[in-house]
Amino acid sequence: MSNLQAFTPREIVSELDRYIVGQHKAKRAIAIALRNRFRRQRVAPELRDEIVPKNIIMIGPTGVGKTELARRLAKLAQAPFVKVEATKFTEVGYVGRDVESIVRDLVEQAVELVRKEQLEQVRTRAQHQAEERLIRLLARPPAPAEPAAPQQPINPFGFVLSKPPAEPQISDSELSELRKRLRAGELEERQVEIEVDEPGPALPLVSMFGGAGMEEMERKMSEVLGNLPGMKGQTRRRTMRVAEARRVLEDQEASRLVDMDNVKRLAVERTEQSGIVFLDEIDKVASRGGGQHGPDVSREGVQRDLLPIVEGSTVSTKYGPVRTDHVLFIAAGAFHVSKVSDLIPELQGRFPVRVELESLRKQDFVRILTEPKNALTRQYQALLQTEGIELSFTEDAVEALASYAAEANERAENIGARRLHTIMEALLDDLSFRASELSERVVVMDGAKVRATLEPIMQSDDLSKYIL
Ligand SMILES: Nc1ncnc2c1ncn2[C@@H]1O[C@H](COP(=O)(O)OP(=O)(O)OP(=O)(O)O)[C@@H](O)[C@H]1O
Ligand SMILES: [Mg+2]
Repeated sequence: MSNLQAFTPREIVSELDRYIVGQHKAKRAIAIALRNRFRRQRVAPELRDEIVPKNIIMIGPTGVGKTELARRLAKLAQAPFVKVEATKFTEVGYVGRDVESIVRDLVEQAVELVRKEQLEQVRTRAQHQAEERLIRLLARPPAPAEPAAPQQPINPFGFVLSKPPAEPQISDSELSELRKRLRAGELEERQVEIEVDEPGPALPLVSMFGGAGMEEMERKMSEVLGNLPGMKGQTRRRTMRVAEARRVLEDQEASRLVDMDNVKRLAVERTEQSGIVFLDEIDKVASRGGGQHGPDVSREGVQRDLLPIVEGSTVSTKYGPVRTDHVLFIAAGAFHVSKVSDLIPELQGRFPVRVELESLRKQDFVRILTEPKNALTRQYQALLQTEGIELSFTEDAVEALASYAAEANERAENIGARRLHTIMEALLDDLSFRASELSERVVVMDGAKVRATLEPIMQSDDLSKYIL
C-alpha cells in the first residue's frame, strides 16, 4: 500500500500544493478525510465498522480546481477512483439508470491498480525468468521452417502445460556464454520465435440494449459470450527481435507470477476500504422549491437513486459483492442557482463536510502559470522543446498573462483557471504554427510580446469574446 496512507494531514496538503494553488480549506478537508481512513484502519474491529466516512461537498465556481483536487487526491492515495457526473443520470430515458455501475467501475479500477502493484512486486523475478527463457531460445538453433505444421490444439491451461519442443542438450558453458553476451546487449538484434497471446475478437455487444437496469444484463451476456470457444484469445507463434521479445516474455512471466484470484480479492477489499467516488455537478440535480413536476421530479429521482450507494449498500460485481459503506464520496458543484439545502435531506446528511473554494484572482493565476509541476508554461516549454526550441517566459510576461486572464474573466464569464488555457493558446498560436520551420532556437516571451499579441484582442470586444 502506498505510503500516503501514513501521511499526516499536513503532508497531504503539501503534496496537493504541488499541483493546486490556493484552496487551502478544501485541501484541509480532503486531508482530514484521508487521514481518518488511516486512523479507522487502526481502530478495534467492533468500532471500526461503525465509523462511516465523512463525505465532502465542494462548493465553488467553475474552473477553480474542484475536479483537479479530486483527481490529484486519487493519484496520491493510490486508491481506486471514479468520477461521475450526476447529470449523466438525468438524461431522457436514463432516470433510474443503474447507479450501481459506479461501484462496478470502481472495482474495475481497483483490479487494475492492484494488478499493477503486484506486477511491480514480481518484476525482478519475471525479468530473471524471461532472461532464462531468452537464453534457451537463443541457444536453440533456429527452427527449420516446418512445412504444414499442424495447428497446435489450444489447451485450456495455456502455456503452462504445453509441452516444450524437444530441446537439444546445451552445455552450461554455452548457456553462460550466451547469458554474458545477452547482458552485454550484443544479441538485441537477433530474431527469436515466441508464443504470444492474441486477444479474442471484440464483442460487438456493448450498448446493444438501452435503458435502465440493462447494464448488469449486458455485462453477463458479454461474459457468457466471451467464454465461448472461438471467442477466447489464442496463442500464435511470432518471430521478433530479442529486444521486443524480452518485453513480451517479461510480461508473460509477470502475469504468470501474479495470482489473479488474489488480485480480485484484494481489489474488492481495496474498493471497500479506500475507494473514492467523485460526484461532479451535484448541484445540477438539486431542485429548488421541491415537490414540483417536470425536470425536478427526475432530479430528485437521481438523488434517490444515489442515496443507497452513498448510504452504504451491497452491489454485486463480477468480482463478488462489494459493500459501499466505507467508500468516500466527494461531491462538487457550483451551486449558483441551487443551494446545498435544496438536496434531499437524506443526501445532505450524508455529506457532513462542506467546503467552499474561492474564485481565483490575478495573483493566483501568476502562481498557477508557474508553480505546479504541470504548470501550463512548462507544458508549452516541453512541447516546443521537441522541436528544439528553448522557450522561456519572463516574470513580466507571466504578470501580464495573469492580468489579461483576470480581466477577461471579469468582462466575460468567469471560467476560472480555464481562462489561462485560452490566453496561452492565443499567445503561442503563431509560435506553435511556425515552430518546426523557425531558425532561432531561443524564444523569450516578455511582457512587451504578450501585450503586443493580446492587447489588440482584448481591445476588441468581439474578438475577445470569441478568442479568449
Ligand atoms: N487552484 C488551481 N491550481 C492549479 N490549477 C488549477 C486550479 N484551479 C483550476 N486549475 C486548472 O484549471 C483547469 C480546470 O479546473 P477543474 O477541472 O478543477 O475545474 P472545476 O473546479 O472542476 O470546474 P467545473 O465546476 O467547471 O467542473 C484544470 O486544468 C486545472 O488544472
Ligand atoms: Mg469539474
